Amino acid sequence: MQKTKDLHLIIFIIGALLLSACSESEKKYRIGVSQCSEDIWREKQNSELRMAAYFHEDVDLHFAAAYDSDERQVQQIDSLVNLGIDLLIVAPNQVSTISPAIDRAYDKGIPVIVFERKTSSKKYTAFMGADNHEMGSLMGDYIVGRLKGHGKVMEVMGLNGSSPAIERHNGFRETVGRNPGLEIVATLQGDWTEPTAYGIVKQWLQTHKDTPVDLVFGMNDRSAMGARKAFMEAIEDGNTPQLPLFCGIDGLPGKHGGIQLVRDSLLAASYIYPTHGDQLLQLAIDILDGKPYEKETRLMSALVTHDNARVLQMESEEVMRQSQYLEQLNQRVSGYLQQLANQRTLTLLAVAMLLLLLLLMVGVYMYQRQRTRIGKERRRLEREQLDFYAQVSHELRTPLTLIEGPLARLAEMDDMRQIGDESANLFAIVRRNTHQLTQLINKLLEGPGDNRTGRKEEGKKKLSEKKATDSTAKAETSQPKLSTPNAQQKELILIVDDNADIRAYLRSFLQDRYRLLEAEDGKKGCELAQNEVPDLIVSDVMMPVMNGLQFCQKVKEDVVTSHIPVILLTARALSAHQIEGYKSGADAYITKPFAPDVLLARIENLIHSRKVLKQLFTSNMSTTEQAQATTISVQTAPAAIPPQESAFLVRFRKVVETQLSNSDLSVEDIGSEMGLSRVQLYRKIKALTGQTPVEQLRTARLIKGRQLLETTDKTVAEVAYSVGFTAPSYFAKCFKDEFGVSPSEFGKRE
Ligand code: FRU
Repeated sequence: MQKTKDLHLIIFIIGALLLSACSESEKKYRIGVSQCSEDIWREKQNSELRMAAYFHEDVDLHFAAAYDSDERQVQQIDSLVNLGIDLLIVAPNQVSTISPAIDRAYDKGIPVIVFERKTSSKKYTAFMGADNHEMGSLMGDYIVGRLKGHGKVMEVMGLNGSSPAIERHNGFRETVGRNPGLEIVATLQGDWTEPTAYGIVKQWLQTHKDTPVDLVFGMNDRSAMGARKAFMEAIEDGNTPQLPLFCGIDGLPGKHGGIQLVRDSLLAASYIYPTHGDQLLQLAIDILDGKPYEKETRLMSALVTHDNARVLQMESEEVMRQSQYLEQLNQRVSGYLQQLANQRTLTLLAVAMLLLLLLLMVGVYMYQRQRTRIGKERRRLEREQLDFYAQVSHELRTPLTLIEGPLARLAEMDDMRQIGDESANLFAIVRRNTHQLTQLINKLLEGPGDNRTGRKEEGKKKLSEKKATDSTAKAETSQPKLSTPNAQQKELILIVDDNADIRAYLRSFLQDRYRLLEAEDGKKGCELAQNEVPDLIVSDVMMPVMNGLQFCQKVKEDVVTSHIPVILLTARALSAHQIEGYKSGADAYITKPFAPDVLLARIENLIHSRKVLKQLFTSNMSTTEQAQATTISVQTAPAAIPPQESAFLVRFRKVVETQLSNSDLSVEDIGSEMGLSRVQLYRKIKALTGQTPVEQLRTARLIKGRQLLETTDKTVAEVAYSVGFTAPSYFAKCFKDEFGVSPSEFGKRE
């Protein structure tokens, strides 16, 4: 469950990383800008807004231009609101026509800044713009001054219903009205565009051919230039007597701007109509940030005449240069930011890939773990199955052994020949059916795991085995001392089995031929094997405390007992079990039920092979010869003479040979040099060679003495001392016993 959660978490992190790598960061503020028209004045303002936005990373500007159409501007405002803008900046085309759309935005909680042109509604957050009334009035003052209080003036109006047109007209009229020398000969309705101004003035000139005009006040520079064009044409056509002066408003910088027109004397004057996009954006951000702000901001402006046009142009060009420089800087920064964003995307993708890789590795790891777990579980089930078969077979084979074996023995007994026919028949039926039962059980117990590899015996408790009543490890037969010559004729066999009946049965056919020791489990068997060093061990496999496999392994590992042949006698008939048995070091593996003759034959065979070894070491060869012979026999008969035994004897012989001349050399000395106690060395050497270590030492001394007599001029006494005898007479006696000839005679003979 936890692992699944972890996986989900990793997938989620990767998804989030990929998404963030692929998507642009969301801006904090969306500001909608609704312009009533599209012209160079609006362009300048929009570009100032954009420039100012560079300093506010979290601002996103959305522009819309209505091209002097009320209907279009209303639609555009609604669309901006639907887009989800956070603030609306609007220059309304006319005072009242756009108000409903502005009100809708305001009512939705969107802050509204009305700039430059006014609305009839009070639903706006702030207003920013120049004072158009004052501008009209100041232009009136200029005209009065320029015409020295006398002359005829034409007024070309801005769009009807737009607030600057109304206010500029009022301001202008108020001022001019105070000067009776000035006559307004015409007030023509324009719409802020040059073509309209041209058209209406042209039309007026056609009907007023003889009316002289001294000055035309266009409400913006474009209207003034439209009127000028019409007058120029009329002069060419001879329709008007003179070219008047022209004044406008806007005073924009740049090639076609009002400042240049004044410098070129195309216009007599203009008025700078401030755009101030930077101030406008700052006001918007202050409102959005919840900072204090002015509800009404009045932008300052100035008159442009031929006198200051040059200075103003220089200044405005400088500002434009700075703006361009800023723009380039911004582009460069944007480039760097883009690079950074790309790097970030790459890094995130790399991290995502790494995480995917990790995910893959976790997946593979989990899959492997699952497989291992399944494998372990399968092996456990197999083991349990194997155990089950082992236990069942043990349960069945042991009592079968104890029926079939004794029946076979009974059949061999003399008394059986005297029983009547009926009893003999019944006996035969019992034997036949016992045999049949054995066959059936053997078939049944050829379990499913017969070909599987072996495993360690766990020594589990048997299901319902009748435990031996005799639980002591004491030997049930007499244990004659090994040093007693009578007793040396019969080999000593150690029986290890927890079933007292089996032990009794084994005893019944072994006790005539062998001396017997008995133990009820592997641990006690080990102790007896160490102490008594038997000639052979017959052991059960499934026993409590220490099972037969562990016991066999211990016997084979201990230098004192390693030479002892071990026969495993067991109900575990599967080949996997047999392999286990041989791996533990067993010399033979006999399955129950077994024929006593087979076991006896196997015992005799193994004891015989050990005798071959003994003969080899008791023969009258020099130690060097014996060492060589051992090596040869190891090579030729490795099964009979295990290499570790011959190595042990070679070591023993070498220790003896190097100290032959030391008459104080004791069995303890040799034992301690070989890492064995006196008793252990005694029993091991005796078991392997049939001689005691002392006898071996004496034989070695005599063989060396014989060699010295043969190859040197030493006297018998000298030879006796040099091979460790303290009395030459005793040397002579032993020599004669060993070789059948006295040393002096041997010397002469040589
Ligand atoms: C620009 C413009 C200017 C004029 C102003 C009046 O769109 O026509 O020329 O001064 O609007 O609102």
